[in-house]
Order: sequence, then structure tokens, then C-alpha cells
Amino acid sequence: MEVRRGSGLGLSMLLVVLVCALLVMVPEVSATRFTVGSNMGWTTNVNYTIWAKDKHFYNGDWLFFVYDRNQMNVLEVNKTDYESCNADHPLHNWTRGAGRDVVPLNVTRHYYFISGKGFCYGGMKLAVRVENPPPPPTASPLNEKSSSPSFNLRGNYVLPAVFAVGAVWDAFVRFW
Ligand SMILES: *[C@@H]1O[C@H](CO)[C@@H](O)[C@H](O)[C@H]1NC(C)=O
Ligand SMILES: *[C@@H]1O[C@H](CO)[C@@H](O)[C@H](O)[C@H]1NC(C)=O
Ligand SMILES: *[C@@H]1O[C@H](CO)[C@@H](O)[C@H](O)[C@H]1NC(C)=O
Ligand SMILES: *[C@@H]1O[C@H](CO)[C@@H](O)[C@H](O)[C@H]1NC(C)=O
Repeated sequence: MEVRRGSGLGLSMLLVVLVCALLVMVPEVSATRFTVGSNMGWTTNVNYTIWAKDKHFYNGDWLFFVYDRNQMNVLEVNKTDYESCNADHPLHNWTRGAGRDVVPLNVTRHYYFISGKGFCYGGMKLAVRVENPPPPPTASPLNEKSSSPSFNLRGNYVLPAVFAVGAVWDAFVRFW
């Protein structure tokens, strides 16, 4: 009896630890905020095609443009205007004035960004393809560890997962 009580307590402790571990994992399965150009930021002399090449952008992620507010800007354009660097009719002007603009990637499609004021011709242009997030619990490959906790569809899987683990553990303890 004493031994069984002891092992039961041990299992409950283990369950608590497991639940805590799952809760700690929440930021890892939620959205990523990509700083465009990483530590170079949004500027000249960066090839953003190469920067984006090895990254996966998922619905719910963000792009964070950091740049010289006195010179550059952030304009979302269509594919034609991305290719020709035409800043005359942007789909969206994300420029807020502080040189630090956050763009939510909340639709599964291609996004095209350029800087106006002539900088696009020098290579200040970024194209990203936004995909649906992979199904959990297969953790999404986070490329830049600048992710911050957020709520999106991916987060909705975590609580059921906690309950599922709890239920399995409960059954395990009962049949032990
Ligand atoms: C982009 O917008 C321009 C101007 O509105 C238009 O002429 C062009 O066909 C558009 N391209 C695409 C791919 O939608
Ligand atoms: C974009 O918006 C900013 C801030 O409102 C404004 O200063 C700037 O002129 C706009 N740029 C374009 C190209 O529309
Ligand atoms: C995506 O975000 C933009 C900017 O916050 C917002 O205007 C738009 O309604 C959002 N679209 C969806 C599908 O959530
Ligand atoms: C960026 O690199 C890609 C792949 O190497 C190349 O095709 C493209 O021309 C480069 N872009 C610029 C603006 O140099």
C-alpha cells in the first residue's frame, strides 16, 4: 500500500512536470516575428531573395522592418510592380514613420514588398510565400529565435494536447 501510494504520487508529479513542459513549449509552436534582413535590417546591399530563401513563413507570422525612417519606406505591391520596382500604386503602405514597421502575414499567399524612393532598384525588395502552418506536434522550424508568444490557430492545439496527455496518464495510473 505504502509503495503504491508513493508511486502514485510520483506519477502525479511526473504529470505536473509534463504539463508544465507542454506549457513552456507554447511559444515554440506559435508565431514567429522575422526581422527582415536579420541584423542588417531593411537597407541597401542586402539580397532579400537570399535572406528569405531558407525560411518558412507561416500564416500568423510577422515581418518586422527596421530601417532608416528618413530614407526608406515599406510598400506592399503586386508581383508586376515588385519586378519593375514601381512604387506608384502600392497595395498597402506599411510605413508608419518610426522606421520600425510590423506586417502581419495573415493570408496564405505571396507577399511583395519594396522600398520606394528609388531603393528598390538597388535590391530593396522582398518576396515571401506564406504557407499554412504544419500540423502539430511536429514543431515548426523556427529559423530566427525572435519569436514572441501570440495567439493564433497553432496555439489552439496545445490545450487539447495537455488534456490528452492527462487522460492517457490517468488511464495509465488506473491500470497500473
Ligand atoms: C499590378 O498592378 C498594376 C497596376 O494596377 C497592373 O497593371 C498589373 O497588371 C498588376 N499585376 C498583377 C500581377 O496583378
Ligand atoms: C506612406 O505612409 C506614410 C505615413 O502615413 C506617409 O508619410 C508616406 O508618404 C506614404 N508613402 C506612400 C508612398 O504612400
Ligand atoms: C490581416 O491583417 C490586416 C492588417 O492588420 C487586416 O487589415 C486584415 O483584415 C487581416 N486579414 C485577415 C484575413 O485576418
Ligand atoms: C539575389 O540573389 C539571387 C540568387 O543568387 C539572384 O538571382 C538575384 O539577382 C540577386 N538579387 C540582387 C538584387 O542582387
